[in-house]
Amino acid sequence: MTRQLFVTTALPYANAPFHLGHIMEYIQADIWVRHQRMMGNVVHFVGADDAHGAPIMIAAEKAGITPQQFVAQIAAGRKQYMDGFHISFDNWHSTDGPENHELSQDIYRKLKAAGFIASKTIEQFYDPVKNMFLADRYIKGECPKCHAKDQYGDSCEVCSAVYAPTELISPYSVLTGATPVMKSSEHFFFKLSDPKCVEFLRGWAINDGRLQSEVANKAKEWLEGEDGLGDWDISRDAPYFGIEIPDEPGKYFYVWLDAPVGYLASLKNYFGKTGRDFDAFMADPATEQIHFIGKDITYFHTLFWPAMLKFSGYKTPDRVYAHGFVTVSGEKMSKSRGTGISPLRYLEIGMNPEWLRYYLAAKLNAKVEDIDFSAEDFTARVNADLIGKYVNIASRAAGFITKRFNGRVSTDWATDTDPFLAGLRGVATEIQALYEGREYGKALRATMDQADIINAYVDANKPWLLAKDPANDAALQEVCSRLLEAFRILTIYLKPVLPRVATQVEALLNIAPLTWSDTHHPLPDGHTVNPYQHLLTRVDPTIFDALFDAPVPETAPAAAPAAGHTDTSATTDAGRIEPIDEEISITDFAKVDLRIAKIVHCEAVEGSKKLLRLTLDAGEGRTRNVFSGIQSAYKPEQLIGKLTVMVANLAPRTMKFGVSEGMVLAASAQDEKARPGIYILEPWPGATPGMRVG
Ligand code: MSP
Ligand code: ZN
Repeated sequence: MTRQLFVTTALPYANAPFHLGHIMEYIQADIWVRHQRMMGNVVHFVGADDAHGAPIMIAAEKAGITPQQFVAQIAAGRKQYMDGFHISFDNWHSTDGPENHELSQDIYRKLKAAGFIASKTIEQFYDPVKNMFLADRYIKGECPKCHAKDQYGDSCEVCSAVYAPTELISPYSVLTGATPVMKSSEHFFFKLSDPKCVEFLRGWAINDGRLQSEVANKAKEWLEGEDGLGDWDISRDAPYFGIEIPDEPGKYFYVWLDAPVGYLASLKNYFGKTGRDFDAFMADPATEQIHFIGKDITYFHTLFWPAMLKFSGYKTPDRVYAHGFVTVSGEKMSKSRGTGISPLRYLEIGMNPEWLRYYLAAKLNAKVEDIDFSAEDFTARVNADLIGKYVNIASRAAGFITKRFNGRVSTDWATDTDPFLAGLRGVATEIQALYEGREYGKALRATMDQADIINAYVDANKPWLLAKDPANDAALQEVCSRLLEAFRILTIYLKPVLPRVATQVEALLNIAPLTWSDTHHPLPDGHTVNPYQHLLTRVDPTIFDALFDAPVPETAPAAAPAAGHTDTSATTDAGRIEPIDEEISITDFAKVDLRIAKIVHCEAVEGSKKLLRLTLDAGEGRTRNVFSGIQSAYKPEQLIGKLTVMVANLAPRTMKFGVSEGMVLAASAQDEKARPGIYILEPWPGATPGMRVG
């Protein structure tokens, strides 16, 4: 039966260009969507920019433009990513579009009519300098549960606790640094604590087998934990960039209320443009609604969103598929650490988007696991599998067919009982199931196992030897035709991941676009294929030098609250330093191998305003190359010959300018404006290179 699917990815905040994490999510969803389309299912795959909220309002204000203009600028940049990475959205919209205003207000009205909205006057943080109530994300402080420092006002990134900003310990305004004051205001709440809601969610999120087990377990903790579900504050006071709450002047929906409604709004917008009936589609019990999201936003998607839909009488989601985060070389992506990867730069420097699609797919599974991007691994998988195993089959066979047989294949052998075909076709159902279940890594492994078998067939039948004697022509044509037929089937298996290569193969084989149902329809006997043209090149590992972001100085202070924060909350010098980190044990400290090193050479780094390249001798019998962000503080000649302290056992890191093999210690103040400067450490006289520091 043909399925009717409504598929979304999380709506990215419209305040920044995409990073690799976004692209990974789109690739994951796109592979699934393309697989479904190849199955003959009807898919509506939509996305949108998440336009609202205080951060965007404030960013626009800083840029001197309206929030609408700001969001439009970001939106204008989206297409190049989607096209560049072959993401096949049917529609891309904005949560500030008219459909979303309408739908969000409609959902609210229905929730209110059903008795799920309460209002309450609450005391809330207010920035007395900026004269506005502070959005959760504009307050930071210590997590009330795990005591991690500098956590946002709504949830803790360390322990995932969700709380009210007033529960934070030592709060400060991120906007001005001021200590916020309490001010009262009327707020509107979605009554999640209503027993009907709790009962519904127990079924929807926990018991109905709809979610991944890790996600369902989390939902269970949230739902049945000690505190249970609190009512959800869905209103914000002006000034706010958002959707006005009906009949409540000066009140706006909190961005997370209207953001998921944006899924429906984008679909509605798309249906409007294509003459389809949105209401009928959403009312159809056959419609499956599927959301791809990252692990950080499961709370919103597995509790708030289904409950909002349920109690306003809308269809609830059928599946929420959560994925893990992308890390780069084992680290959280971060521009400042030189581990950020710009997807646009990836494309600009000529890296093939399908390498990335293949590489990420090979690492993806149905679990909520993080995925590490590593240059070596990337190169190995693409070159060994994609080029070495798959592309090779076509390049070895197609030439003979073109040169010796005028492009004609012979396929009278290709019956349903042919053992060569039986093995190859036999895994199709399994691979389909793996795509359906988002086990892409396994799907590709099963495909490459078949490629191995085919390559063994090449080696056993040696077309290049057959080609030496025209008496073997019939055999040569059959062997090469088998290889092209096998290649055709492998291309079907890979098509969800490699849509462009598949299109090239369709042109090569002179056939209509491949779908799953083509698995059992071999090339007709005597069919003419086109001359082989190269499909994919190998990865040259030196290309990664150009890919990685230039790091911001090693010695730069960690992201600090804006200047002024400490001025209003503390007057002594002691209170002005960056808070001391969490306590560690002596064994933790001993893991850091600090050594005295001599700066034997130092030079500016061409193309960088921040970095100096240091050549360090720590008595190891070799020197090390270390980049340090101290160009603003020292001239290279000032440093040559000096001793300093180096972290000797830091994992080497590939940066834009080369590999950095350590890090030198330097002091800097958190509040750079008040106390500027970077000061490299120098030991007292007598210390020599290689001595341990500690
Ligand atoms: N605007 C909200 C989502 C609203 S959905 C109704 C948001 N935006 S986001 O831009 O921060 O994130 C968009 C998606 O990217 C989320 O699914 C998020 O999990 C995902 N990722 C963000 N960083 C990521 C990685 N490092 N790796 C993988 N995905 C990541 O949240
Ligand atoms: Zn915490």
